[in-house]
Amino acid sequence: AAETGPRIAVLGTGYLGATHAVCMAELGFTVIGYDVDAAKVARLAAGEVPIFEPGLEELLRKNLESGWLSFTTDIDGIAGWADVHFVCVGTPQRAGDGGADLRYVDAAVDQLIAAGLAPGALIVGKSTVPAGTAAGLAARISAAAPDVELAWNPEFLREGFAVEDTLRPDRLVFGVTPGGAAEARLRAVYTATIEAGTPVVVTDYATAELVKVAANAFLATKISFINAMAEICDVAGADVLELATAIGYDARIGNRFLRPGIGFGGGCLPKDIRAFQARATELGAGSSLAFLAEIDAVNLRARQRAVTLTRAALGGVVAGRRLGVLGAAFKPNSDDIRDSPALDIAAELAAEGAQVVVYDPAAIPNARLRYPSLTYATSVREAVKAADAVLVLTEWAEFRTLDPAALLPHVAGAVVVDGRHALDERRWREAGWAYHSLGRPSGA
Ligand code: UGA
Repeated sequence: AAETGPRIAVLGTGYLGATHAVCMAELGFTVIGYDVDAAKVARLAAGEVPIFEPGLEELLRKNLESGWLSFTTDIDGIAGWADVHFVCVGTPQRAGDGGADLRYVDAAVDQLIAAGLAPGALIVGKSTVPAGTAAGLAARISAAAPDVELAWNPEFLREGFAVEDTLRPDRLVFGVTPGGAAEARLRAVYTATIEAGTPVVVTDYATAELVKVAANAFLATKISFINAMAEICDVAGADVLELATAIGYDARIGNRFLRPGIGFGGGCLPKDIRAFQARATELGAGSSLAFLAEIDAVNLRARQRAVTLTRAALGGVVAGRRLGVLGAAFKPNSDDIRDSPALDIAAELAAEGAQVVVYDPAAIPNARLRYPSLTYATSVREAVKAADAVLVLTEWAEFRTLDPAALLPHVAGAVVVDGRHALDERRWREAGWAYHSLGRPSGA
């Protein structure tokens, strides 16, 4: 293919990097994705997406075939080749204080410098990092390669909507230093997105870094807020779903991300609020984010309350009882089980002696690796067979649309615990099920 715009390298081909590389190629750039993991690179180069992400594989294949996109494990090859390097490597939670482990970000930048960058290259950080990281990296870069600039451009994609969120994001954030060329160069890379109406916020490094974690902290707060209301509804005999609907009509509050249940999980929200607190403490402002410890506690308590609810629904003891668990992924349309509330609850019930059988439309292979001692089924029917209770812990469409009457002949006890408020309560009750959920009167 004839080259037009800047040559783009994407370092790290995990969730963020694979999606970013594919979408940049889709926008018409020549892109090389780099990863240290040779197996991952080989799969991507063969047109195979290692994650469950609607639409991604199709775009990957299309851009591999057109020649815009390729993958490599050779950092020396991309260092001098690309004009723009997107750093998309992971920043896992470090042991101890829950802060972010920056070793992969540091390694990526150091290796680029060591391999020799093209004159005037731009390094763009997309990974989620603690405030102050970019400034430190910029100092290292300018000491070694004075004509190479750094920008910070956080990513806000949701799993399951990764392509859509990358091509049509709510906003673009460019953290740059004044007087440099980075802003103009980023605008050139994102021309199509900007012309489609996406707002751009141009700011300094620290603000750009903070926008990312502040957004995730706000989203986590919204979920824990409504789950705290569910706790109050339980003791006041009120209904948290109706409460959420009613407060959500106020446009200032909004009804999105206000779904109560067993709380948030995944590779981002839990880790990010912990890393944010750790960084605030390092900066001497720990008390400003002390409330995030409460957000985390409310979130983990929701899992515990689901265990308690299940126990109560079965008359006080789960040991020896058979439980059909529907859902393993941390959210529907994903095979991701990182910090999954569903599996946490399943494992806790199994630890109490229940016989737990788990079914999920996509996440069983991952669940099996992480929780080898749980039992797995290949269908809803198999999971609920002879169950004393059925738990819905991830709101897959397949579960929301289940026919409660059709399941009845297969279970031992018509007890359902709806951890995500995913089911039509009245329909399940009319079919003869005892329906239980968090934050709603269960006797109605
Ligand atoms: C989240 C953010 O939504 C993205 O904007 C961000 O870019 C991403 O983290 C990241 O930092 O990379 P994601 O982890 O894919 O995206 O998942 P969400 O759709 O945000 O769901 C997170 C968790 O919250 C799930 O376990 C979900 O079940 C739970 N949730 C969500 C609720 O319990 N209630 C809700 O109302 C919404």
